[in-house]
Amino acid sequence: MARTKAILIVGGSGFVGSHLALHLREGYKVFATTYTHRMLIPGVTVYPLAIDNRDWMKRMIYNTQPDVVIYAVGSHTIGREEADKRKAESAHAGGAVTLCDVADIMQPKFIYLSHCQVFDGEKGNFHEGDSALPTTDLGKVKIQGENFIKGRSLNHLIVRSSPLFGRGNGRNFSPLDRLRISLDRGQRVELPTNEYYSYAPIYGLVEMISRLIETNIRNKIFHYGGLTKVSQYEFARGFAKRFGFDQKLVQPLRQETTAASKAKPIVLDYSLNCTNAVQTLKIKPLLLEQGFDLIEKKLVTHL
Ligand SMILES: NC(=O)c1ccc[n+]([C@@H]2O[C@H](COP(=O)([O-])OP(=O)(O)OC[C@H]3O[C@@H](n4cnc5c(N)ncnc54)[C@H](OP(=O)(O)O)[C@@H]3O)[C@@H](O)[C@H]2O)c1
Repeated sequence: MARTKAILIVGGSGFVGSHLALHLREGYKVFATTYTHRMLIPGVTVYPLAIDNRDWMKRMIYNTQPDVVIYAVGSHTIGREEADKRKAESAHAGGAVTLCDVADIMQPKFIYLSHCQVFDGEKGNFHEGDSALPTTDLGKVKIQGENFIKGRSLNHLIVRSSPLFGRGNGRNFSPLDRLRISLDRGQRVELPTNEYYSYAPIYGLVEMISRLIETNIRNKIFHYGGLTKVSQYEFARGFAKRFGFDQKLVQPLRQETTAASKAKPIVLDYSLNCTNAVQTLKIKPLLLEQGFDLIEKKLVTHL
């Protein structure tokens, strides 16, 4: 009888990690790590882990013997201070390297979660083969993480995702939870109108990662995103409209205008082209409205 695969989700207490844990526990032996948000996930073995604790990481890897490691660590809010940037570098890139090194003998499949901001936002509809020339702090640490993983693991997959929406796990609020709470309290939300993304529901990413766990494909990059390209402002307006909140609470973020930006407004388009994932992994790309339908169906995330 085939052994049930062991999956280690690093960053299991996060928005993405906990959705993965809840889904994958149905078919696999799942281990998940927590850092500042300690939590129990029924059906999942939880380990506390600080990404810079190499010895503890080594012990965890020996105890769990993972067939697959999913690296879902790191926050998107990176402060301006040098220390904040170092922290982000350690979470998004350094920790992944240490993990790759300590798991070297076992060579698990290493799935690294990257972000559409590895691109410069100049043209949008980015394919996997397009040059990644990040300009944001997040994009820079993500490309560093990608390059480290490519150099260290002979069995890796990199998933570059557009912003994901869905409910958080009750301990760690997702960006959508924060938006919903503000709108619910009647608080005004200001968002950029000039940054475009192919927003996608978290459930689609979870589905895609489930397929990647079972595939024999290795050492490849896949893009994941939705079919609708909108700005952060349009996304929030769309959400407010669909779920019956006051749309007027969502307002364009007032940005500093310079002579140059007045002459040629800066528009950034980070949308991803997911044709490769759709064709290879047979995932279904979704329109924004279809993503909202899924949210409606799964309003409660059970832990
Ligand atoms: N969410 C998206 O829309 C999106 C889109 C594209 C890519 N991604 C990528 O997916 C990954 C997960 O994103 P997310 O939205 O789930 O973020 P999140 O909710 O902030 O979760 C981050 C996870 O990382 C853990 N963590 C942070 N610093 C750590 C450290 N020093 N040591 C150990 N664990 C640490 C957190 O643990 P605690 O909470 O317990 O402290 C949490 O489990 C990130 O790499 C992100 O760039 C996310």
